[in-house]
Amino acid sequence: MKFFIDTADLGEIQQAESLGLLDGVTTNPSLIAKIVPDPDAFTYEDFKAHIAEICRIVDGPISAEVTTLDAESMIREGKDLAKIHDNVVVKCPCTLDGLRAIRHLSGEGIRTNATLAFSPTQALLAAKAGATFISPFVGRLDDISTEGMGLVREIVTIFDNYGYATEVLVASVRHPQHVVDAALAGADIATIPFKVISQLIHHPLTDAGLDKFMQDARVMKKSGT
Ligand code: E4P
Repeated sequence: MKFFIDTADLGEIQQAESLGLLDGVTTNPSLIAKIVPDPDAFTYEDFKAHIAEICRIVDGPISAEVTTLDAESMIREGKDLAKIHDNVVVKCPCTLDGLRAIRHLSGEGIRTNATLAFSPTQALLAAKAGATFISPFVGRLDDISTEGMGLVREIVTIFDNYGYATEVLVASVRHPQHVVDAALAGADIATIPFKVISQLIHHPLTDAGLDKFMQDARVMKKSGT
């Protein structure tokens, strides 16, 4: 299973990359907005420079989202974003215009991530359009009392039934159990916030066991062993 980090924060990306376990990065306009100190001074060129900086840190797919709604504008924006670096993946929403843009961009060899996916039919259409990744938003579904991971299981089954190459990228991950369930469902990737990546390794029994081992190790040092 591949792990992406779901953030635009360069410090977080750098720290996660230093673990040696990072396969890619996902961003969206809200994540970009979080790291911008002065929104009035932030330009589209600054956005592209920021994505380029992420590409310098991580050698893997880096999702950058379009900020337009009609297919023609998405295609134009997507082509421009793809010029930043070979690793840039253009994120388009699961709408009819988004599908048109995905079809067009993938036809030109540009990788795409169909985002804001909340139903198996959206995933099926995105796969047929040639999307490289489909992003079911599990946390946002859970927020409205609909089991997000149920959608992931449905998408994995549908893609397996027909041999679609589109990779299932579980998004809107809120806690470690989402990562476990995504792995059990056979998802290809989970994109995980930095805080959740940090939580994945922690276990109170590991901490307690380590404390005891360290105490015992001090005894051994005292006796010169
Ligand atoms: C990533 O591709 C998505 O945009 C992100 O996971 C959405 O997460 P959220 O629902 O916590 O905003």
